[in-house]
Amino acid sequence: MLHTRTEHENFRFSLLQAVPDTPVTKIQRGAKLLLHAVQNKAPKKILITGASSGIGRALAIELAKQGHHLALTARRTELLESLKTELSPYGTPVVIASLDVQHAEDVAPTIAGLQQQLGGLDIAIANAGISGVQRTGDTNTRNDQLIMNTNYLGAVATLNAAASHFKAQGYGRLVGMSSIAAWIPIAGSGSYCASKAALTAWLNAARLELAKHHISVLSIHPGFIRTSIAKNMDKYPFVISPEKAAQAMIPAIMGSTDSLIVPKWPWQLVVPVVDHIPKRLINKFM
Ligand SMILES: NC(=O)c1ccc[n+]([C@@H]2O[C@H](COP(=O)([O-])OP(=O)(O)OC[C@H]3O[C@@H](n4cnc5c(N)ncnc54)[C@H](OP(=O)(O)O)[C@@H]3O)[C@@H](O)[C@H]2O)c1
Repeated sequence: MLHTRTEHENFRFSLLQAVPDTPVTKIQRGAKLLLHAVQNKAPKKILITGASSGIGRALAIELAKQGHHLALTARRTELLESLKTELSPYGTPVVIASLDVQHAEDVAPTIAGLQQQLGGLDIAIANAGISGVQRTGDTNTRNDQLIMNTNYLGAVATLNAAASHFKAQGYGRLVGMSSIAAWIPIAGSGSYCASKAALTAWLNAARLELAKHHISVLSIHPGFIRTSIAKNMDKYPFVISPEKAAQAMIPAIMGSTDSLIVPKWPWQLVVPVVDHIPKRLINKFM
């Protein structure tokens, strides 16, 4: 039987596993498990863009509660200052910086500065984003540009800056805040959907490229989360609070999953069949 290299390696591994345990292999395995457990429990140094409100803010609070060290950015620094004060009882290091991710040239130096203050970086979450209504036929593309510059190019600039550091250190985790809108169309939000589809595609390609550098990549696809990104979020289906969203996201952020939908139900079932759902039904609910 012909094995691919991975299958061959797996096969050799399974043979090794079949060898009866000696005291030495037992100790080696125990030490490896202990090291893995200690590494997983150790506080991580985490960058979050768009931490001044909504999902980014909720993630910062949950991660601080768990003792992780945080680098937080946004444009509204007064909100970051008050968040930092709110996080101080958790006793974990928090550094903040003003960053407009639309200014691509500012992104890498700002992240480098934060990383230096924090003493390193393990995980980068490109969360900053905006929504906006664009009616097809409107010839003014200003809104479309703002959305693409923030949600796609801003996220790419953030993740590239983190990836260059991760490549040098030989490990790291990139996280992009995409959306179910990458897959499910929303009338009047063409550029928003396109920005998230572009981000998901970028993350998928980066995952393949960066695996050899021991850098993992997670794309998060929230459904509807009650934040100020859009008016009347409660009119949308299956809306959840940012706190609940953050709690669902953190295990995936800290783990090794490639892709996550939040909330899982019912979106995990809807996404694969979206092309078969009548358009009037999508228009009614989205
Ligand atoms: N809420 C939802 O239903 C939902 C669903 C799917 C995906 N998402 C995604 O989740 C992410 C967070 O959104 P949210 O719902 O939490 O909305 P939000 O409460 O409005 O938060 C957006 C965050 O992004 C920051 N931001 C916006 N433009 C920025 C820029 N040019 N530079 C730097 N930071 C910028 C904002 O901070 P400043 O204004 O202070 O800069 C704010 O902290 C977005 O990427 C969004 O697309 C949200």
